[in-house]
Amino acid sequence: MGAYGDLHARSLADRESFWLEAAGAIDWFEPPTRAFDAGQGAYGRWFPDGVVNACHNALDRHVDAGRGGQTALIYDSPVTGSKRSYTYAGLRDEVSAFAAVLQDLGVAKGDRVVIYMPMVPEALVGMYACARLGAIHSVVFGGFAAAELAKRIDDAAPKVVLTASCGVEPTRKVAYKPLLDQAIAAASHKPDAVVLLQRPELEAELTPGRDHDWAALRAAAEGRTTACAPVAATDPLYILYTSGTTGTPKGVVRDTGGYLVALAWSMKAVYGLNPGETFFCASDIGWVVGHSYIVYAPLIIGATKVLYEGKPVGTPDAGAFWRVVSEHGVAALFTAPTALRAIRKEDPEGREAAKYDLSRLRALFLAGERADPPSIQWAETLLGVPVIDNCWQTETGWPIVANPIGLERLPVKLGSPTVPMPGYDVRVLTDDGQEAPRGTLGNIVIKLPLPPGCLPTLWNADDRFRSAYLEGFPGHYQTSDAGFVDEDGYVFFMARTDDIINVAGHRLSTGGMEEVIASHPDVAECAVVGVADPLKGQSPTGFVVLKAGVDRTPADIEREIVALVRDRIGPVAAFKTALTVQRLPKTRSGKILRGTIQKIADGEDWAMPATIEDPATLDEIGDALAARR
Ligand code: COA
Ligand code: AMP
Repeated sequence: MGAYGDLHARSLADRESFWLEAAGAIDWFEPPTRAFDAGQGAYGRWFPDGVVNACHNALDRHVDAGRGGQTALIYDSPVTGSKRSYTYAGLRDEVSAFAAVLQDLGVAKGDRVVIYMPMVPEALVGMYACARLGAIHSVVFGGFAAAELAKRIDDAAPKVVLTASCGVEPTRKVAYKPLLDQAIAAASHKPDAVVLLQRPELEAELTPGRDHDWAALRAAAEGRTTACAPVAATDPLYILYTSGTTGTPKGVVRDTGGYLVALAWSMKAVYGLNPGETFFCASDIGWVVGHSYIVYAPLIIGATKVLYEGKPVGTPDAGAFWRVVSEHGVAALFTAPTALRAIRKEDPEGREAAKYDLSRLRALFLAGERADPPSIQWAETLLGVPVIDNCWQTETGWPIVANPIGLERLPVKLGSPTVPMPGYDVRVLTDDGQEAPRGTLGNIVIKLPLPPGCLPTLWNADDRFRSAYLEGFPGHYQTSDAGFVDEDGYVFFMARTDDIINVAGHRLSTGGMEEVIASHPDVAECAVVGVADPLKGQSPTGFVVLKAGVDRTPADIEREIVALVRDRIGPVAAFKTALTVQRLPKTRSGKILRGTIQKIADGEDWAMPATIEDPATLDEIGDALAARR
């Protein structure tokens, strides 16, 4: 591990010089004189005296440097049958004008703007326009229901909400406006204004006095320009909500300067991309992978990126990704293992891939969930390029562990996303905080400080930040992942240690689902576990105990519970199975034995817990599962 090993060691031993040098890749209004101030914030702050603007770094500086005519963004939407490209200059002008629209609506530095939109260029324009003004965007994934949106509106307290009339899923149109109306009605905080993009697929009626038509405001702002506001490197660029162990999402705060530096470094060293090349990240702007590698990173380094509104399969077929790669000359593709599994299921022989010229593709990157070795091997054989796993969290904003192929391509060990990235001092600790021997399973933690780009805190919740991440293992950030480090320093992520499950690359809280199910009037108690699923990785399954005296048919109640979770959390939860049992297996102190339930559901070997109150309850779980199969 020559180049990588030296670099990683230097990033930890000489943090100041390493990150100040990396900061040279960014255009600063005032360059930082120090990389890190250990005295600020919960564990220190990065680039404490730097002054910067994210939109300037994504757009204006490339126009100023002569890239104005290069394509910045290619929108490719098989679900609507449309395609559109923007040059750097064109996108800068679009953003500059839309920032004027936001300014007219009263949006200023530090104000929040919630963006509840599908994968359309206007969503990105809205995000860059916020960044231009120093306002803080908070994108909410379209697959969340009104109640989830309401929680985020209440927490972020946005001045303005940007939305669209609909999202387009392969089998249906999702009307966003009624969901937004319900969310605003349910929330205590009321935004001053809503700007709605009408889509021809399904138009919405505007609410007088509150809603504005996007196109009309934009047309009126034609030709107007807005300057990029200087912001402190430590000022938030965005808030992105992610699942915690309860139904209250965590507002991950991303600061500006550290994030830009980390993205610029990773785009070249981890993803091996050069300015002018094309990057296709097939995530969604509602997730962290989308924020980092659809919205910001490719433009930060002067590359071209694809914004894809579609699915890996069914829009129209399992060749969709390969068509995009070939048509737009993509150099690197980034997706989730679940997408590969979906493609492989429909086209195991890779006949679709054979139809396209994929000669410009240099690598395929996977993240979001554990990359299963069969999918990696299948894709390697199919594409003949390296398939590179990388592991990170919403909280970190960029990979914790990866194979830095732009720097030095390390041998792949299937099952491991490879090695820690600069600034990440990854350790594995036993439950009592001792360093676990190499190769031994334990808690994956990161010795503080976290590197630039990672969250400094949670929005309006410093105490929750400390208790959720810093107090479990003092001096360390707790990832809530279990795993190990082998003799060669490769990190293996095996499972979450909390109630988070990963469904089709989407992070969901079983605790949040249990809260919803428990609100059903006939339910006495419940437990939700993530059951292994060949396509989605995990699939949530609920076991429910009905209240005494309920004499309705369990099947009816189970159907209502499935509908309730979809209605309150959203279709993205993919909650399709509720099973009625007489009792839940518990310890003598009353703790539900979720781990054992999950093992039984997965058909794994399991041991009778010594503390179980009544072993017969486990048989009931097995019977309920068998009856459903
Ligand atoms: N707006 C509204 N609804 C949405 C949505 C959005 N943006 N995204 C998904 N949904 C809905 C879907 O329509 C579906 O609804 P349904 O129950 O009515 O069918 C539900 O949420 C579940 O969606 P999804 O998880 O996409 O499942 P799927 O069965 O439609 O597709 C895959 C399966 C594997 C193709 C798909 O999950 C996928 O592409 N996953 C990759 C995810 C990814 O890239 N994650 C980022 C991590 S890096
Ligand atoms: P999210 O915040 O949605 O990105 O989810 C983060 C969690 O997803 C991590 O804590 C891991 O549990 C899991 N995860 C993400 N990428 C990987 C990967 N490459 N390998 C294993 N687990 C992963």
